Amino acid sequence: MSASTITPWVVGNWKMNPVKADALKLIQDFNSLLNNAPIAEEKCILGIAPISIALTTIQSELSTANRKVHTVAQDVSRISGTGAYTGEQSAELLTDHGIQYVLIGHSERREIFAENKDILNAKIQNALNAGLTVIYCVGESLEQREAGQAEAVVLQQICDIAAVVQAEQWRNIVIAYEPIWAIGTGKTASPQDAQAMHAQIRQGLNQITGYGSTMAILYGGSVKPENAVELAACPDINGALVGGASLNAESFHQIAQAFANTQ
Ligand code: 13P
Repeated sequence: MSASTITPWVVGNWKMNPVKADALKLIQDFNSLLNNAPIAEEKCILGIAPISIALTTIQSELSTANRKVHTVAQDVSRISGTGAYTGEQSAELLTDHGIQYVLIGHSERREIFAENKDILNAKIQNALNAGLTVIYCVGESLEQREAGQAEAVVLQQICDIAAVVQAEQWRNIVIAYEPIWAIGTGKTASPQDAQAMHAQIRQGLNQITGYGSTMAILYGGSVKPENAVELAACPDINGALVGGASLNAESFHQIAQAFANTQ
């Protein structure tokens, strides 16, 4: 399988947004857009990651869409199972509530919530062992890019999880490359730079796992309808993790169409 035959993923990361009424409207609008301009499931895998308290509400709203749209948790506990861990949600409890996907390693969790390699590895291990599919985010800061360290930083973030991921579990991992300097800034990596990094990531994955040629590698960082077509045309960019633009149903639908049209 060549990289360009990988089914693309388009996932909306709503972060700490929006209020309930807006969230429901957003899903209803998105469902109508999917009715008017369908996107075939085999052309694009779709997901939405709402705030944790809204996971099951959004999941039920998405179940009325004319195709599968996955509900994705934005986080999972580093503790597994059940127990006296106030405020936490384990991987087992997510799957018990019908959630099958989770984001791990987002730069906002790494930076603002001080999630280091050990915490992230515990989360990944719990998630995979519970049967969740993990969207694992990697990406360099502006300082690291300017110092010529971007590739080394990103490849190290992939090597970090290799210690805990068992061989057969790599097929339940999707990588999202999100250069920190492009997140929420309106600055996107150029398609050439993004493609170059994605190709490096795929090569690294091939060396570490042997599954690199079948793994989806998403790009994230100011993806919008205006740049989605160009990004989608890059052979090693197999989808997008979309922040701000996923809070607008039309923009999100257009981005999904851009990736679906590559198939
Ligand atoms: P923006 O699309 O708002 O830049 O956010 C990207 C992101 O962090 C998705 O996880």
